[in-house]
Amino acid sequence: MTVFLDLIIFVSSILLIVGLRKLSHPKSANNGNVLAAIGVGLGVMLAIFYPLETENNNYLFIVLGIIIGGVIGLISAKKVPMTAMPEMVSLFNGFGGFSAALISLIWLINNNAIGGVSDMSVVLSNLFLGFVAFTGSMVAYGKLSGKLQDRHLQIPYATVVNIILLAVAIAMTIYFAYHGRLTTLELSMFTVLSVIYGITFVAPIGGADMPVVISLLNSLTGITAAISGIMTDNKLMLLGGVLVGSSGIILTMLMCTAMNRTLVGVLFGSFTSSGASSGASGSATEGTIKEISVSDLAVQLAYSDRVAIIPGYGMAVAQAQKITKDVENLLVNKGVELKYTIHPVAGRMPGHMNVLLAEADVSYDKLLDLEEANDFLADTDVAIIVGANDVVNPAAKEDPSSKIYGMPILDLAKTKNVIVLKRSMNPGYAGIENPLFFKPNTKMLFNDAKKSLEGILSELKEL
Ligand code: TAP
Repeated sequence: MTVFLDLIIFVSSILLIVGLRKLSHPKSANNGNVLAAIGVGLGVMLAIFYPLETENNNYLFIVLGIIIGGVIGLISAKKVPMTAMPEMVSLFNGFGGFSAALISLIWLINNNAIGGVSDMSVVLSNLFLGFVAFTGSMVAYGKLSGKLQDRHLQIPYATVVNIILLAVAIAMTIYFAYHGRLTTLELSMFTVLSVIYGITFVAPIGGADMPVVISLLNSLTGITAAISGIMTDNKLMLLGGVLVGSSGIILTMLMCTAMNRTLVGVLFGSFTSSGASSGASGSATEGTIKEISVSDLAVQLAYSDRVAIIPGYGMAVAQAQKITKDVENLLVNKGVELKYTIHPVAGRMPGHMNVLLAEADVSYDKLLDLEEANDFLADTDVAIIVGANDVVNPAAKEDPSSKIYGMPILDLAKTKNVIVLKRSMNPGYAGIENPLFFKPNTKMLFNDAKKSLEGILSELKEL
């Protein structure tokens, strides 16, 4: 049996590592996902066979857990719209942290007096991090889904409160570890503190910083899974946790770079508005709004040499990716050189635009990342913005008083004609006005992006 279990651990580990590696490229990502899913599936089998080695196994709970979790996972994965994916990631991540915290709680209840200093400090840290990941992810879920507004969660002197709570948690961990055991009251107090800290940690953070926080919480869950793997002597859980923890922190740092923010700035900074709630910020916008008709735009596109498509969150809302691809096909047939310029934080989750465009069979070599995109945009006849806003906001370069100042953007200053497909003058996620819409080279086409593109497609067919 031991050889069989070791074999499962070995094969699963290879599948998880190779799967993760393949996720780093859109072409191999599908395969990577399947391989990693098989690795996790084997890990679940391991969880079924593992208790055979102990005396107190309860198969009813194990089978019920797998059935209930599996059914909920399957239904949610099928039902959740692409636009709600970040909330779902946050929710599932929270449950991961919760499981790790429960493992620590059970360990403490079973081994309270027999743990040494190092055992105790590791288990208490895991309990703390697990609950922080759980309640923090729940708050992040609430904010992303719009169920929680910043005004519901205003904590006076939040940074000071958080520093005090963290210091108390560290002091309690050290005290309990040296003391060697906890009373039920002490364990309850420590648990409540962990639960509260998760809420106060995420509550003050909002706006465009939310993806970074989710990625950081993801990494925390990975760390707690790794510690739980050590505690339960489950090598696969240890490996999976290390992979999630390290890739989560790498993603966190990459996103901070993409938004030109430091991690400390994200966690304690002032970029705190959430959603399209507030109006303008920074200096007053000069210029006027000019509109363009669908037929004029179609003519302009048909006679262009180079066209850029800039997708944003609105493309996901309008589900306009397939019609965008149809427009691409027609223009390319007319001899137009067309590229998609992708901002790393366009949409609401890492790689959001790449996933949508892959769904519509857009070829990967047509996608340009930020740096290549800005070179292309500097020499482009028409750039069509399909539901993007913050990622093309020149205030990030021009207005030091803007809260997105310093964030790298897709730069349209040198593009000959900029066309914005959106429904109104509403702001994007950061909740700030966009001076791009008032620039002399910009024209607006107000409508749902899918409807506008359908109109453009039928006009192009006539030309
Ligand atoms: P946003 O700045 O959020 O702007 C999206 C725009 O799409 C809105 O101004 C909206 O204007 C328009 N829109 C919505 N539905 C539409 C529809 N059916 N048809 C046409 N337009 C529609 O999007 P972005 O430029 O992609 O920027 C992303 C923002 O989200 C950044 O601030 C980023 O930091 C943040 N964020 C990113 C992530 C990740 S990891 N990608 C995660 C969370 C948050 P109308 O309402 O007027 O149509």
